[in-house]
Amino acid sequence: MSADLDTRAIAILRRNDRGGYTVPTHGLYPFQWNWDSAFVALGFAEFDRDRAWTEIETLVSGQWDDGMIPHIIFHRDDPGYFPGPGVWATGRTPPTSGITQPPVLATVLRRLWEQEGSDPAHPRLRRLYDACLASHRWFHRFRDPMGNGLVMATHNWETGRDNSSEWDDALARVDTSGVGTYQRRDTGHVDAAMRPTAAEYDRYVAILQFGRDCGWDHRRIADAGPFRVVDVGMSMELLRANRDLLVLATALGDAAAVAELTARIALSTAGIDWLWNDEVGAYCSRDATTHVSSGLVTSASFLAFYAGVGSPAQRQRLLAALDRMTRSAVYLLPSLEAGSRAYDHQRYWRGPVWLVVSYMVAEGLAEAGETGWAERIRADSARLIATSGFYESFSPETAAGSGGPDFSWTAAMWLAWVRKGAGA
Ligand code: GLC
Repeated sequence: MSADLDTRAIAILRRNDRGGYTVPTHGLYPFQWNWDSAFVALGFAEFDRDRAWTEIETLVSGQWDDGMIPHIIFHRDDPGYFPGPGVWATGRTPPTSGITQPPVLATVLRRLWEQEGSDPAHPRLRRLYDACLASHRWFHRFRDPMGNGLVMATHNWETGRDNSSEWDDALARVDTSGVGTYQRRDTGHVDAAMRPTAAEYDRYVAILQFGRDCGWDHRRIADAGPFRVVDVGMSMELLRANRDLLVLATALGDAAAVAELTARIALSTAGIDWLWNDEVGAYCSRDATTHVSSGLVTSASFLAFYAGVGSPAQRQRLLAALDRMTRSAVYLLPSLEAGSRAYDHQRYWRGPVWLVVSYMVAEGLAEAGETGWAERIRADSARLIATSGFYESFSPETAAGSGGPDFSWTAAMWLAWVRKGAGA
C-alpha cells in the first residue's frame, strides 16, 4: 500500500507542477502560495532535489523590496479565482497579493541544506538565506507592534488558518458596508459547507480593500488596519524559523545576523508568555488592539514544542489539552478542540485536520522527547491518507476529506514525513 501511495503522491506533485512552481490543487488554488511552496519543496526533495530548490527560488522571485514574501504569486492570471491580481492591485511584477503567510521557509531551507551535507558553500544557499533574513526583518519591522518578538497578522489569510474561530471577534468588528458586490469562485469548486460563510468572506474582502486603499503601505496597515491579531501560529513559526536561520547565519559566518537573530530569539522566547492563557492551559492568539485572548485551543497552540518554548508546567498542561483532544477526535490533530464554540468537523480551520500543522507539531513533540505523541499524530495522518487520499484537510471524526482533492502539500507531507517510520 505504501509504495502505491508513494507513486500517487509523486504523481500529484508532478501534475500540480506549473513549471518552477506548484499549485496547491487544480482549480480551487491556481497560483503559487507561500507556505504551501515551502512544504511542497520538502516533498520534491524526496525524489527530485533540483525541483525542490527551484520551488522556493521561484517563491522568492516574488519577494517585495521591503522584504515581504507575499502570500500568493500570480505567475499567470486565472479567471477561476477570486480575489485575483486585479483586485489586489499591488502593481508588482510578477503580480502578487499584498499580504504575507506563515514564515516557515527558513526552516525548510535549513532542512534541504542539511540533507545535502550542510556545506556553507552550497551554490543555492546564499540567495535563499538572504531572502529569508530580509523577510524576517520585515516581520520585526512591521509586525511586532509591542516589541515583544511576536507576530501580528493584519489579515486572517496571513495566518494560513483562514477561518479559524480565533479570528471571529476581530472579524466581527470589521465594517463591510463599503465592500460592494463581487463573485466568489471558491464555492464553485468545492462544497460551500466546507468553506467560509458569505458574511465571513465580506470581511476578508473589506480588510483587503483597506490595504489596497493604503497603497499597501505596511506601516499604515499595521498601525490602523481593521484586523490586528497576534497569531500564536505565526509567532511560534517565526521563532522556530529564527532558530533555523541562526544555524545558517553561523555556518555562513554572518556575524551581524548571528547577533541580531540571537537577540530576536531571546526576545520572542520571553515574549511568548503574553499568549499563554492560564484558564485553558494553552497558548492562544490575542488581539493586538483589545488585548483579549481567544481562549481557544487550536492545533497551533501545540506549536510551542516546535518553537522550543514553555516551562515544564506549561508543557504538562499542553499535553493534557492534547490528551483531551483524543477523547473527542478519532484522528489527531484537529484544528480546533471539539466542543469549542464554532467547532465544525468539516469546515476548514474550525475542526478539520491539516497535515502541515500536524507535521510541525509532531516534529516539535519528537524533539521534546514526546515520541509517543509524535508517533500517534503520524500514525493518524497515515490512516487519514489511506482512507481518503490526499485531500486538503480531513474530518477528525470520520476521516472524510474536505476541501480540494489531490492536494500538493498533503502529498508532500506523505513523502517527507508520514510514510517514514511506516516501514516504507
Ligand atoms: C487556504 C489555506 C491556506 C493555504 C491555501 C492554499 O487558503 O487556508 O493555509 O495556504 O489555501 O493551499
